[in-house]
Amino acid sequence: MPAGPLPGFRDFYPTELAERAFIFSKWRDVARRYALVEIDGPPLEALELYTKKSGDEIVGQLYEFEDKGKRRVALRPEMTPTVARMVAARAQTLRKPVRWFSIPQLFRYERQQRGRLREHYQLNVDIIGESDVSVDAELLACAIDMLRACGLTKDDIVVRFSDRRVLNAVLLAREVPEPASAAVYAVLDKFERQPESVSAEKLVAAGLTAAQASLLLADVRDSRGRGQMAGLISAEDREGQFMQAWNTVQTFQTHVGSLLGDPPEDWLTFDLSIVRGLAYYTGLVFEIYDRRGELRAICGGGRYDSLLGAIGGVDLPALGFGMGDVVLTELLRNKGLLPTHLHQLDYWIAPGADDPETREAALSLTGRLRQCGCAAEYPLHTQTLSRQLKTAANAGARYVAIVHAPGGTHDVTLRELGDHSKTSGERDTPLSFAELIDHGRQHCRAAAAD
Ligand code: HAM
Repeated sequence: MPAGPLPGFRDFYPTELAERAFIFSKWRDVARRYALVEIDGPPLEALELYTKKSGDEIVGQLYEFEDKGKRRVALRPEMTPTVARMVAARAQTLRKPVRWFSIPQLFRYERQQRGRLREHYQLNVDIIGESDVSVDAELLACAIDMLRACGLTKDDIVVRFSDRRVLNAVLLAREVPEPASAAVYAVLDKFERQPESVSAEKLVAAGLTAAQASLLLADVRDSRGRGQMAGLISAEDREGQFMQAWNTVQTFQTHVGSLLGDPPEDWLTFDLSIVRGLAYYTGLVFEIYDRRGELRAICGGGRYDSLLGAIGGVDLPALGFGMGDVVLTELLRNKGLLPTHLHQLDYWIAPGADDPETREAALSLTGRLRQCGCAAEYPLHTQTLSRQLKTAANAGARYVAIVHAPGGTHDVTLRELGDHSKTSGERDTPLSFAELIDHGRQHCRAAAAD
């Protein structure tokens, strides 16, 4: 019997699950602020959904098989085709623009490495039915706000973005033949990870002349981080296509800055080498990285205006992003931004005497506190009081309520744990059962208002 999960899969022990829950709660909170509604789809889809449009890399990583009904099926490696399929199926009735988010678990059979597993959870935000550039800005501001809500700042992360229409205009100006575009995208996608001489060789293999390859690579190099790229090719931009696409990029940046309340260059840097591996993107595309450049992308997305047509036969503009939990967790953990306490136990209810009446009174008190909304626990078998106090402290309890045997001057002694500014005497309060329940109610109300 194997002791651990399959390679690339994870067990979520309480600490890891608490970290995941923290990230999901931040995602859901920001999604609400952006008026997004949550959806989900099936984890298993028809294989064809991915082979149609996703791009070779992801299709090569599919967990695919034939089910007992002889259908070719695949575990979902990404959410976008499912979102496109779901929107296309109800395109007539859904209110536009559709503003959806989801947090699916995705499966990709890839070589396991840092930040890359065979399953991960991925926040997806997709806005469908609007082509104005303001939506591109809305989407990116949302991605950044998701990370800001987790505690990250502009000193921690950077958005590298481009626009496939800008790249296409550059290719046109450089007279690169249209059929070579897909191969050029693939080379640029690896621009940073391979020596420039290798990129040049691959471009020539894709059909470019050596001079074209060298000009194009110079364009990419020069574009990176430059706010003003228009000067690069204006002379060759005979059809004005570049300037048109470039103006959209400028508007996009201005909108993002307004939404974030920061100068856009604090967060964004233009980079022609960002093309995104997936085949369906058509316009603005972006990836978000840690500033130190130690990790792979935390997030990636962009505009995919033709996918709904290809999958569902409806012509609707669309855009979205995916943000994975693996890289984000690593980054937040490194920066000490993840919660360290597992759960909040409000009351440990300790029977102070070993007789049936005291025990039943403790159980009944536990039940009533739980009904008030408090987290309450009691010993499941008889334990000495000193043992219980240790257990309560280890469980992170805020208070211990010691239940006394019937007939004493008071029912309960309430002890506040953890506040070391008080002496042990100051931490003890004698209470009746009714007073303790009242204490529980107030404690929960205050915690909820926090
Ligand atoms: P993607 O770039 O393949 O895009 O994935 C988005 C993010 O998910 C990546 O930046 C990375 O953080 C995380 N991720 C992807 N694969 C893995 C993996 N094997 N292990 C850990 N994390 C991973 C998409 O999936 C697009 N469908 C996003 C999208 C949504 N575009 C439009 N809407």
